Amino acid sequence: MTSVGIVYHSGFGHTAALARAVGEGALSVPGTAARLVFAEDAARDPDALGAYDALVLGCPTYMAGPSAPFKEFLDATSAIWLRQGWKDKLAAGFTTSGGYSGDKLSTLTQLMLFAMQHGMVWVGLGLPDGGGSGTAPPDSLNRLGAYAGAMAKSDTDLGLEGTHDSDVATAAALGRRVAVCAQRWQREPVVSQKVPQTERPAR
Ligand SMILES: Cc1cc2nc3c(=O)[nH]c(=O)nc-3n(C[C@H](O)[C@H](O)[C@H](O)COP(=O)(O)O)c2cc1C
Repeated sequence: MTSVGIVYHSGFGHTAALARAVGEGALSVPGTAARLVFAEDAARDPDALGAYDALVLGCPTYMAGPSAPFKEFLDATSAIWLRQGWKDKLAAGFTTSGGYSGDKLSTLTQLMLFAMQHGMVWVGLGLPDGGGSGTAPPDSLNRLGAYAGAMAKSDTDLGLEGTHDSDVATAAALGRRVAVCAQRWQREPVVSQKVPQTERPAR
């Protein structure tokens, strides 16, 4: 059994809808357990996340970056970073914003760099751009054409009705992919990645 933890913050419910979809996608892979974790809880006890084989990080884009409560969680992991406690754990991310762009690539990039600082292994979306061609249906999977993770555009004047089915399906696809990767990752033999500090490659 592999486990996927979905850590998220949502101010108004849009990211929460995506988080649930990521969880459902992960659960659709037999042999996977998935759990949703509020970022506020994770900030108080980040060590509890060490039990998961993979962490999927999700937050809304606020002012061109991760929302403040989610950033508080990210900062609360610095002691784990210091001992590289999450090294080689899988990680992935998703975000939503009001604008088609809304500068949300900045948010995904920050989530990805956070994972890099922790020595984690980033799992991208793995889907082609669903909105790039003139003939693409507007509700295609990955209609926003993201690669680093799942993106959603929420119509903010419509409340939760403004969460698009295609973006929810894209989030589910990310959850499935992470679960499949986690199982594969668990099967591979662990090879020490310790790099000798003094040896130089022969010329
Ligand atoms: C404080 C604040 C800042 C925001 N900044 C942006 C932004 O930079 N770009 C954007 O497109 N939308 C922005 N939005 C809109 C949110 O990203 C959008 O409403 C999102 O769906 C909220 O997700 P949530 O319901 O999970 O909180 C902002 C909203 C708030 C409340």
